[in-house]
Amino acid sequence: MECPVPQTVIAGNWKMYKTQREALAFLQAFLPLVSGVPAARELVLCVPFTALVPLADKLQGTSIQLGAQNVHWEDQGAFTGEIAAPMLVELGVRYVVVGHSERRQYFGETDQTVNGRLRAAQAHGLTPILCVGETKQQREAGQIESLIYRQLDQALVGVDPDNLVIAYEPIWAIGTGLTCETQEANRVIGLIRQRVGRPDITIQYGGSVKPGNIDELMAAPEINGVLVGGASLEPESFARIANYC
Ligand code: PGA
Repeated sequence: MECPVPQTVIAGNWKMYKTQREALAFLQAFLPLVSGVPAARELVLCVPFTALVPLADKLQGTSIQLGAQNVHWEDQGAFTGEIAAPMLVELGVRYVVVGHSERRQYFGETDQTVNGRLRAAQAHGLTPILCVGETKQQREAGQIESLIYRQLDQALVGVDPDNLVIAYEPIWAIGTGLTCETQEANRVIGLIRQRVGRPDITIQYGGSVKPGNIDELMAAPEINGVLVGGASLEPESFARIANYC
């Protein structure tokens, strides 16, 4: 019997960048640059809520998937400033980033709220991209494994590993230009895979992924894709990443 292999997922996380106009200009330049990307590579744009509608329209008939950057654990309710899974599904959103370190750091996201968001996303057929990763201090204190295992164990209670992407994003590598060594990213991702117990789960690396390091990262056996912040904002750089060798 053949073992299922993890799907490759290349996702851009635009964070709080791009108006609708800027998002459409990006897409116009980006689409021709990725027309030759092999179909086996899933390309995802995780964009601000306001850009979802215009992009959903323009992405019809392309193989690029739409992603959001947050989802609430309730289907509706008095939660000012939040967004519910049915609202995203209605727009054609397929992926949603959950538990990004910026949400944990600035918006009080905990392993428990991450768990609620993951479950709500899956209940509505969205594929969550769960972000885990350690700070520089935790790394230096030798706490990488214990921290990541805690994040995984608490976030994944009641979560279906068959409809999940995990992104290993060492916090010290995010937006800093300090990419994690490929060998080390490969090692930690291997540990994450063992902990989750699914050989075929897609696990991405994230943190200062650029055109200059994508080929090496994607050659590592455990790395099944990337979650890209800064370098996903320019059509040329994100297209180079999508077209990795
Ligand atoms: P970066 O961000 O690529 O700008 O480091 C990655 C992320 O935050 O997902």
